[in-house]
Order: sequence, then structure tokens, then C-alpha cells
Amino acid sequence: MTQSQQDPTGRLRHLLSLQGLPRDMLHTLLARAETYCAPAGQRAPRNTQLAGRTVANLFFEPSTRTRASFELAARRLGAEVLNLDISLSSTAKGESILDTLDTLLAMGVDAFVVRHTDDGLHAMLADFLGHRAALINAGEGISNHPTQGLLDALTIRRHKPALEQLTVTIAGDIRHSRVAHSAVHALTTLGVGELRLAAPAAALADDHLPGNRFTDLDQAVRDADVIMMLRIQKERMAAEQVPDTTQYLQHFGLTPERLALARPDAIVMHPGPMNRGVEIADSVADGPQAVIREQVANGVAVRMAVLEMLLD
Ligand code: CP
Repeated sequence: MTQSQQDPTGRLRHLLSLQGLPRDMLHTLLARAETYCAPAGQRAPRNTQLAGRTVANLFFEPSTRTRASFELAARRLGAEVLNLDISLSSTAKGESILDTLDTLLAMGVDAFVVRHTDDGLHAMLADFLGHRAALINAGEGISNHPTQGLLDALTIRRHKPALEQLTVTIAGDIRHSRVAHSAVHALTTLGVGELRLAAPAAALADDHLPGNRFTDLDQAVRDADVIMMLRIQKERMAAEQVPDTTQYLQHFGLTPERLALARPDAIVMHPGPMNRGVEIADSVADGPQAVIREQVANGVAVRMAVLEMLLD
């Protein structure tokens, strides 16, 4: 764990990355999140654990799932929520992000949920906040999306608890995907059996990320238990790097024919937003093996567990 994630007692104070988080801490978070998963047909659990606390969402990049689920998570724990509209905030007049945080601290914010394009920014913000408030990384450049990694691990574990027996294939634009990075960190720490990273050669992960590399998706999905598809992160590529999306499904998308190579009970995941007909066929995204809507629901539960651990 990086020093800036802990307070002096060793307690998790900020959530910046899953890399280096101890396995028992991941298990604690996932077990707590389980308690916030609503049984089918029932209303989502809620309590007043964080009554009187204030959570601020600061999203410098677009988001649907992460932002909405952090807001619902905070409200379901009884906290107040501030959604700062960055385009209408004083950052548009040149105010630094540290001055923005300092201003909101003066109003009594207890936790900042931040998404930003800059890798490394979140650690700097956490150092600035110190013990005064919690910093939760809601997406950082290409490197970290820790609550996504947790919700992916929770979704896999709920379907297939024996992680050490699983073959998990993560496929798509791995190089530019913070989702892939955080999923790899979580699944490695939790001891998944085999991790496969599959991408066109130009989009494979850097060497420091663990996992067996594949450039042929047919090979990568063969006998897999879990297939996680990723979208092409056009916003993080130079124009000449963006692959031809008209050919992508045929070469590197999850079609019904490719899915048939995996184990018959394999689950199909996607963090969203999906580009249907590019990295995943409609019939697969909406098919019986897809757990994509469960991932979304589990995202609220995981974020409740994280807010509770950091603020309670
Ligand atoms: N998976 C994910 O981060 O989705 P959003 O960009 O909609 O938050």
C-alpha cells in the first residue's frame, strides 16, 4: 500500500489504487459490499451510518455509472452529496484544483470522489488533504479505477467463488484501460488461477502488468470462465492509433461464435460504456451469459462499502 493511502494508525484513509492493498483488506471490502447487494426483487439496503457526513463528487471527465453510483451509495448511507458541475465551477476561471478542494473543505466536505485524466494527480491530492478528508479515486488517466476493480472482483466472486480455479480473460484496449489495470491488481491479489490479457499488438499492456499475453482472441477466450471486454479508449489515443472500428468486431470483438469457445458457463463482463457492434456483439451483450447489469448494481454496493470504510 502506498503511504498516502494510510493514516498514521495504518487505517485506509484514501483509496487511490488497488495495487498493493492487502488481500485481507480486499476481502473485508468485498464482504461488506455483499451486505449491500439487494436480493432479487427487494429494495436496496440503506442505513444512516454516514448521517452528518458530506461527500463531494468532482468529475473532470464524463461518467454515468461511477458518478451516479457514488451519489446513490452516499445517499443510501445517509450522507449529504455535493455534485460539483466542473464546467460551471471556478476551475473554468483558472482556479487550481487544490484551491477548489480547499474551498470545499472549508464548507465541511468529508470525502472527495475525483475522476481526472492526469495519472498521478490523485496521490498529490491525497497528500494535500492528509487527514482532513478522504480522497477516493473514481478514475485516473490510464492507471487506476479502484472501485471498478472491486466491483468486477465482487461480480466474479458472486458467480464463481473458487477464484483460484478460474481462467479470466480481459480483452480489448488493455494498454489504455484503467479498468484493466485495477482488475488485474485485484484479481492477482485475490489469487485468480490464470489471468489472460488479450489485445491487438499495439494495445497490449506494458510488461509490468502480470498476466499471460494473447494477440489472438480465439486463443484467449478458449476455455475461459470469465471474459471481460473493454472498449477502445479513443480519447487516450492519437488519431492514427485508433483502429478501424468497422473491422474490429470481426478481428477482436466478442461474437457468439467466439463466446462458444469459452466454457459453457462462462460469464461475460463489460465495465461500460459499451460500443455495441465494435468490441461486443449485441446478442452477447444482451445474452444469458452477460452479467453487465449486475456489475452496475454491484458498483453501488462496493461504493457503499468503500465510503463506510473510509468515513465511518
Ligand atoms: N465503468 C465506468 O467507469 O463507467 P462510467 O465512465 O460511466 O463511470
